[in-house]
Amino acid sequence: MKSTTDKEKSGFDKLKKGANIYGAPLAIIICGDHNAAWIRSYDSKTIVDIDASIVTDHMMLQATELGLGTVWICNFDPKVIKQEFNLPDNIEPINILAVGYAAGNASSPDRHNTARKSLKDIVSYENY
Ligand SMILES: Cc1cc2nc3c(=O)[nH]c(=O)nc-3n(C[C@H](O)[C@H](O)[C@H](O)COP(=O)(O)O)c2cc1C
Repeated sequence: MKSTTDKEKSGFDKLKKGANIYGAPLAIIICGDHNAAWIRSYDSKTIVDIDASIVTDHMMLQATELGLGTVWICNFDPKVIKQEFNLPDNIEPINILAVGYAAGNASSPDRHNTARKSLKDIVSYENY
């Protein structure tokens, strides 16, 4: 039987083929099940991305509560991840959450006043 360390190593090796997790000691692949997701009847839009992202967001919040740092990762090759982890066709890897102890302190949220679009540029009232 493989030891935990071997198991972890092979998981990271597989992950690294399709994603950069910045050397984090833990990474969670958040997947959506296309066979179980709700589909909007009007335009057949599946909300699988939304479901997976709500879960990812809550994981981030919980990790922060525990004093951990996270990076939300979408820039990965889904074909490689599916293949490496034997995901069936209906299971889509949507987000990867890298988790670890942050190397430095979090940047101040005050930067959002200057480094982000202002609310008046992104919020519309009555009409777009
Ligand atoms: C949907 C989504 C996908 C992201 N994908 C990546 C990614 O693949 N690689 C990466 O380095 N950062 C990615 N990021 C950005 C980081 O997770 C993080 O938001 C970024 O470092 C900015 O952090 P800040 O909002 O605290 O400034 C993504 C963010 C979001 C919201």
